[in-house]
Amino acid sequence: MKKQLITIAVNFKSADAYKTKADMLAVGVFEDDLKKSKTIEALDKKLGGSIGKLIKLGDFKAKQLSTACVYSEGKITPERILLVGFGKREKFSPDILRKASSLAAKTAVDVKCETLTLGLHSEIDSKTISAEKIGQVLAEGVYFGAYRYDEFVGSGENGRPVKLTVSIIDTTAASAKISKGIKTGIIIGQSQNISRTLANRPPNVVYPASLAAEAKKIASKTAGLTCKIFDYKQLKQKGFGGIVAVGQGAENKPVMIVLKYTPRGTKKIKAAPVALVGKAITFDSGGIDIKPSNGMDAMKMDMTGGASVMATMKAIAELKLPIPVYGIICSAENKPGSGSYRPGDIITTYSGKTVEILNTDAEGRIILCDGIHYAKELKCNTIVDICTLTGACIVALGLHKAGLMSNNDKLLEEMKQAAVDSGEPLWHLPCGDEYADEMKSKIADLRNISLTKGGGSSNAASFLAEFAGNTNWAHLDIAPTMEASDPLKKITTQGSIGFGVRLMTEYVIGLCK
Ligand code: BES
Ligand code: ZN
Ligand code: ZN
Repeated sequence: MKKQLITIAVNFKSADAYKTKADMLAVGVFEDDLKKSKTIEALDKKLGGSIGKLIKLGDFKAKQLSTACVYSEGKITPERILLVGFGKREKFSPDILRKASSLAAKTAVDVKCETLTLGLHSEIDSKTISAEKIGQVLAEGVYFGAYRYDEFVGSGENGRPVKLTVSIIDTTAASAKISKGIKTGIIIGQSQNISRTLANRPPNVVYPASLAAEAKKIASKTAGLTCKIFDYKQLKQKGFGGIVAVGQGAENKPVMIVLKYTPRGTKKIKAAPVALVGKAITFDSGGIDIKPSNGMDAMKMDMTGGASVMATMKAIAELKLPIPVYGIICSAENKPGSGSYRPGDIITTYSGKTVEILNTDAEGRIILCDGIHYAKELKCNTIVDICTLTGACIVALGLHKAGLMSNNDKLLEEMKQAAVDSGEPLWHLPCGDEYADEMKSKIADLRNISLTKGGGSSNAASFLAEFAGNTNWAHLDIAPTMEASDPLKKITTQGSIGFGVRLMTEYVIGLCK
């Protein structure tokens, strides 16, 4: 029997933080005003000088995302007070606040707190962040930081609270707006953790059919969402030659999952739908072009793009956004076997374009091109694909940002804005023209890898651009951000970070403004 993952609950309270029962109270402090902070001054008075002492000794300088913990010894109701450093005011942003909230929640779970009061935002200048955004990022941060993935760890081996309840406190005139933002943040934060869990789960548990079952379950519980599954037989019948080729070698056969969100009620606006197309390779061994064994287990997370699309669809529906959205998840297991596709094969994709396979490990683009063509058939106005597509993207960007390519400047700007709003960073990389030429085959329409040196992520993107054609298209190569990077491991647990959920949700929110 699998263990229940940690339950995270966030609520809003208009109450005195000092008088509210909690295992921990977290307060935020700017480096600039460590000595003149009203929050610190008031707390220090209550605690009889212990914070002043700590600061005087230099143990807490409020450097960005630093912490110090003091004990209240009964002088105020919360047991512990966690000071969280915001760093310099000029470098402050909504994402720093999100990260500070994440750090507080992670610290609370690490020391097995069950209740946390968040009073992080009291020193923030209301001109720098809107009250609604404050609520949203605080809630998102809590879900990000409190998350643990331990459902297969026997109880007792990694003690943590069953549940963390977090109260975000505010007694000012901004309360109503903060409270509204919290509701948005809860939806997005919960969805992001759904993506993380799907990606963290082992590949013997998450395979194409079980992922499809999960999508069905989500759709059945979410108003406005429907789910259609194309199984292996249907994929073959309908000519999804890319997904079939990649998935045919594994015992666990491929599927395509189509989630559809239809806005309801008065808010409904007439707009062509947006398509989110996700790569969900539930395990990428490389296939016949098998990968080296070292680190191959991480390829259970090669379904992060698909998992994030699924979770984003849930968030979009729960937020009741006024734009129709399709979530198309192409799922297969890339395994060597007697039935596997081979280097040298020429396959006919769903679009009719033929592809010469020169490396079975470049499988993501082969499944995604079918999903992109299907999105065009659905008359989607904009297509955004998201995939852990290339190791080359990690070579280019390291582990801190995901790659962004597009055939449309407006879409590019909208994506960049969504990256800022969500704190899921992107970096623009080139695609098209010369890179596309390198993907032309002599014996088929395209080849699946370039034979010239370097630029692998631009080649892969340009291959996909051929299928998007004139439709507005953006491509997110999230191989770099598949797992928590070292700096993120300070504010959340290792493993999947569900990258793309906040980003794509913010993108669609942006379209509704
Ligand atoms: N899933 C991998 C890319 C990847 C690598 C994602 C590391 C996350 C972390 C993809 O299917 C792959 O194997 N790509 C090959 C392409 C190559 C054969 C042209 C790669 O990047 O090496
Ligand atoms: Zn691969
Ligand atoms: Zn892959």
